[in-house]
Amino acid sequence: MRNFITIEGCDGVGKTYQTRALKEYCLQSGFDVVFTREPGGSDIAEQIRRIILDANNSAMDDLCEAFLYASARIQHLHDIVKPALSQGKVVFCDRYVHSSYVYQGIARGLGLDQIVALNKIAVGDYMPDFTVFLDLSPEQAFMRKGGADKTDRLESVDFSFHTKVYQGYKSLIAQDPSKFEVIDASGTKEQTQTLIRSALVKRGVFPC
Ligand code: TYD
Repeated sequence: MRNFITIEGCDGVGKTYQTRALKEYCLQSGFDVVFTREPGGSDIAEQIRRIILDANNSAMDDLCEAFLYASARIQHLHDIVKPALSQGKVVFCDRYVHSSYVYQGIARGLGLDQIVALNKIAVGDYMPDFTVFLDLSPEQAFMRKGGADKTDRLESVDFSFHTKVYQGYKSLIAQDPSKFEVIDASGTKEQTQTLIRSALVKRGVFPC
């Protein structure tokens, strides 16, 4: 039985919808699982999230941002993830360390090694058992989203940034493929959801 599962993907890939649909399915099936998200997921961590995502904070230094993500992660681990895992629950987390690796380490150019080291301090051994990666090219993801949302600082960065994010995920997956379930997210919402559930059955998270 796998316990700690993270969900990753580029902006606009449909991750929010898919995570919600998965949560709904778990509730209806009576599975005792916890769904949470980053940045945020608990009271103090959500306060840090508001600072990070505030469109007025465009002057924020990239390294400051990386530390804020790590800080929110520490608090969220403390408040939500560690207690749930210690009770033997399955935890699904929408974004986790791999988001920092690719967004801060690779796309913002802070260096993967540095961001891995920072997050090692933040999470210690609390690494996901595996990660569900929703695979959709930045072009398709961007079109689906209908363009940039100017109220969100992170959504208004240029397209090349999203391409770096996507390539960053792809390179991490290539380095350690057994730690990822790569889901083709180019079909309908229902098709993608079916693929996700099949992967979770294959990994032994859900019964057949
Ligand atoms: P959110 O609105 O939750 O987007 P999504 O639904 O795509 O998850 O905003 C999260 C944003 O924060 C997203 O653009 C990715 C970014 N992010 C990082 O850059 N580093 C991180 O460590 C995390 C957790 C998120």
